[in-house]
Amino acid sequence: MCGIIGYTGNRQARDVIISGLKRLEYRGYDSAGIVIGNGSIQLVKDKGGMANLESILPEMKGQYGIGHTRWATHGPPLKKNSHPHLDCKEEIALIHNGIIENNMALREELIQRGHKFKSDTDTEVIVHLLEELYHGNLEEAILKTVARLEGSYAIAAIHAKEKGKIVGARNISPLVVGIGKKENFLASDVPAILEYTDRMIYLLDEEIVTLLKDEVKIMDFQGKPVKRNWQKVEMNIEGAEKSGYEHFMLKEIFEQPDVIMDTFIGANLNTENGYSLNLKPDTIKIIACGTSYHAGYVGKYMFEEFAHVPTTVEIASEYRFSSITTSNPLIIGVSQSGETSDTLVALRIAKKRGLNTLGIVNIVGSTITREVDHVFYTRAGLEVGVAATKTYITQLIALLALAIKIGVAKETLGIDDARYLSNQLRKLPKHVRTILDGSEQIIQLAEEISKSKSMFFLGRNMNFPVALEGALKMKEISYIHAEGYPGGELKHGPLALVTKETPVIAIAVKDQTYEKMLGNIGEVSARGATVIGIGTEGDTELPKYADHVIYIPKVPPLFTPVLVSVVMQLLAYHVANVLGCEIDKPRHLAKSVTVE
Ligand code: M6R
Repeated sequence: MCGIIGYTGNRQARDVIISGLKRLEYRGYDSAGIVIGNGSIQLVKDKGGMANLESILPEMKGQYGIGHTRWATHGPPLKKNSHPHLDCKEEIALIHNGIIENNMALREELIQRGHKFKSDTDTEVIVHLLEELYHGNLEEAILKTVARLEGSYAIAAIHAKEKGKIVGARNISPLVVGIGKKENFLASDVPAILEYTDRMIYLLDEEIVTLLKDEVKIMDFQGKPVKRNWQKVEMNIEGAEKSGYEHFMLKEIFEQPDVIMDTFIGANLNTENGYSLNLKPDTIKIIACGTSYHAGYVGKYMFEEFAHVPTTVEIASEYRFSSITTSNPLIIGVSQSGETSDTLVALRIAKKRGLNTLGIVNIVGSTITREVDHVFYTRAGLEVGVAATKTYITQLIALLALAIKIGVAKETLGIDDARYLSNQLRKLPKHVRTILDGSEQIIQLAEEISKSKSMFFLGRNMNFPVALEGALKMKEISYIHAEGYPGGELKHGPLALVTKETPVIAIAVKDQTYEKMLGNIGEVSARGATVIGIGTEGDTELPKYADHVIYIPKVPPLFTPVLVSVVMQLLAYHVANVLGCEIDKPRHLAKSVTVE
């Protein structure tokens, strides 16, 4: 969600904060603001993104401060709702990521005691509470304030009279401290400060941190001091640059051959003992959101095919409402960020129910990885584009690897079959490259599709969730209305919307669904729709049904979702590009959704 950064040291804080905020913009970009402390509070904030903030930024002298990029939850993107927020005396400045659930009650109480509110945000109650509870020491005021807050939050604050001091607190929403030489940093995520240091301390829930330029102190919400060593992070800053690509999304799509290999190697399937795994669940439930949910949905077919384990998939925010537990289940949470509140909370509920949990996560050290019983890392590297691409593809690889391992452990998959599948997996990067090399055809089709207002994606079996993901990618970055359906479901209602104005993307690869998909293509063609078929190379039949065919290399059926998804990512990207959309930062969305 929102991005948070704080700096204290010998540099001009303004420069450090602005460069960090630019790296954080993918977390939220409807408004931004900065406060620099220098005996008084210098505040600049406005609606709009970082380009706008920079254009209005005066020179600001001072060596400590905090900055924020916002993803609106309470109150529209307006200057008054932008962070930082100030107390009535304009001595304390505060930024916040998350949601304060009891903000209405607190606001009423504070108004009755004479506080004047300037914004519609839930955040502002925190700074007014701080004002009341401040008696010369900011961390003590924060300690008393968090006792009044309900919800999920990461906050950072400074006081005009406490020179060089930043105090942060975390409950559910992430916060990380960067340790420098005679300087320290605070951020909602690592890339914001990686340019300056790779030594990080991850705050845990219910912890408060105080930063001075040569000291970092942590205490828990009871005020008890906490000792924690820093960890070196392995991410590199180049990962956060576009490297000549027009958008991060395109760069990240083109990185997929490499990261597939990294995830494959990380899964240890290239070694003999890499097949052994001590997990033999009777059932699996996968919980995730958005694109990760779609990856999990494809995973269902993998676990059922290779490991014969009945698998259900549930949207993480719905999991809390289900109460049925099967025997010996494994709960798998899939999340690229490892911070998505809906998924995190669902995993916590599963743990409370005494269930075995496993996280498939990209970000090392993220909250989910610290809370689950087992972690399976995807190795996609840093993904900046809000639309998940390489993190999703590596989730599919991780799920394949996990399904193979559980299959071997449960002896539903012989070791020779497992080896065969691993060898096929090893060839996937080459096949993905073939698709990327064929981008020209997709660019031409994108021109045609960009004229439509609505479209459908069809697939069956394991390619049904791929159709859902194709539609999600298209709608989130191009704003063209798109729906994914199982091919057989169209005639039960949605067919009423199919006309010559609604292009249909039909996944008709050579597997058990092929004949049925040809039938579905016939149905939509008869209603005038232009059909783009995604088929298996060498198929001469499909062009007789579809208006255009994009071919993917021939791979085992459960590997086709990887290749088809790459085609769909390219299609969505190029349609959005033709339409001139803000591809890396689609409206209303954020990279990491840390509110429930
Ligand atoms: O970090 P997560 O994988 O848990 O995020 C879940 C969704 O918010 C995410 O997959 C979202 O749907 C994608 N960014 C859309 O491209």
